[in-house]
Amino acid sequence: MKIIKLKINTKNHNYPIIIGSGLVTKIPNLLNNNSIKFGKCLLIIDNKIPKKLINKIFKSLPKKKTITHFFNASEKNKNQTSVDKILQILIKKNFHRNDCLISIGGGITGDVSGFASSIFKRGIKFINIPTTLLAQVDSSIGGKTGINSKYGKNLIGSFYQPSLVISDISFLKSLPRREIVCGYGEILKHSLISNKKFFLFLNKNLPKILNLQSPYIEKSIKESCLIKKKIIQIDEKEKNLRKILNFGHTFAHAYEATLKYSKQLNHGEAVLLGIISASKFSFKNNLLPKNEFELIKNHLTKIKLPLKLKKNFLNKNIKDILSFMKKDKKNSSRKINLVLLKKIGKPIFNLNFESKKLYSFLNKELND
Ligand SMILES: NC(=O)c1ccc[n+]([C@@H]2O[C@H](COP(=O)([O-])OP(=O)(O)OC[C@H]3O[C@@H](n4cnc5c(N)ncnc54)[C@H](O)[C@@H]3O)[C@@H](O)[C@H]2O)c1
Repeated sequence: MKIIKLKINTKNHNYPIIIGSGLVTKIPNLLNNNSIKFGKCLLIIDNKIPKKLINKIFKSLPKKKTITHFFNASEKNKNQTSVDKILQILIKKNFHRNDCLISIGGGITGDVSGFASSIFKRGIKFINIPTTLLAQVDSSIGGKTGINSKYGKNLIGSFYQPSLVISDISFLKSLPRREIVCGYGEILKHSLISNKKFFLFLNKNLPKILNLQSPYIEKSIKESCLIKKKIIQIDEKEKNLRKILNFGHTFAHAYEATLKYSKQLNHGEAVLLGIISASKFSFKNNLLPKNEFELIKNHLTKIKLPLKLKKNFLNKNIKDILSFMKKDKKNSSRKINLVLLKKIGKPIFNLNFESKKLYSFLNKELND
């Protein structure tokens, strides 16, 4: 596969995203070609990544200057305790700003490591090597870092751009299908908020993409990254346009939090459920035409997930779902701020709804 290089240009920071296969054996070249230098480095490695790939990374970095910390990635561990462990290593091993922290893992490892990088000595060099589809198409781009608290998801965090992102698609081979579907949720979201032609491509090639078939998977990753790049370059700090990336996520985060981040519904599955809820809410509020809603619904049906709310929640959960939706970072009043769709590819944002309206929507979904 040809190596793809995308350049992210934000107001304060420019950095490359390199997408390709077998990139982990080329780390020294990638660092050199992109003028990235550092002294010591701390590798934060997701402990589910195959040893074979990890050994390839070890071989490509100077042994004496590399420290390793394995991380058990879960929403429960996406917390301050995990950040503190990383900070302690950095302090004990006398890391400076010119040293580097390298995350090798999915969105959770990247978010925790990126957050630790942003607060250690007010910012240490950070390189992200995303190893899940979700991280390659979404979380490694755009500089959002963060952790969960008992009050909700990603409530503590920072904007902190990496110096380099290396997206090696060879990592995806060991991903369970459930995780591939999760990453696909974000690819689908990108198409729905930005590009109907891309949605139609996804709709036509879904099985090939989910089977990681070339060149469909590469095209999906590239297009998805390009959509996110375009948005975050216009609005890095989510003052306006970047809010559209939250399409489906206000519902999704509330669903995850209500189920206490249990394995019953992981982040990507919650996003798919959130996408169907936000699309249906758009349709029910006369924003999205019925035929477009049906297209989205039929597409999601092909993924064969239990996408009905009533398979995951009971009536008594509605109160919790709404309470988490009210805590969403986008809200600036007591109302619930949502990103909805006018058409496939045409989002509408900054819409505020009374929680009563969402109560009756969720109630209907659970009881119809
Ligand atoms: N920062 C952002 O902009 C942003 C955007 C979207 C999502 N997120 C966050 O990302 C997180 C979800 O990311 P995720 O889906 O990558 O989750 P994750 O990091 O938990 O990874 C999913 C699972 O795959 C395993 N894994 C990782 N790489 C593997 C590999 N190559 N082979 C086999 N197993 C592997 C992990 O151990 C984990 O069990 C959520 O916490 C979400 O909030 C952040």
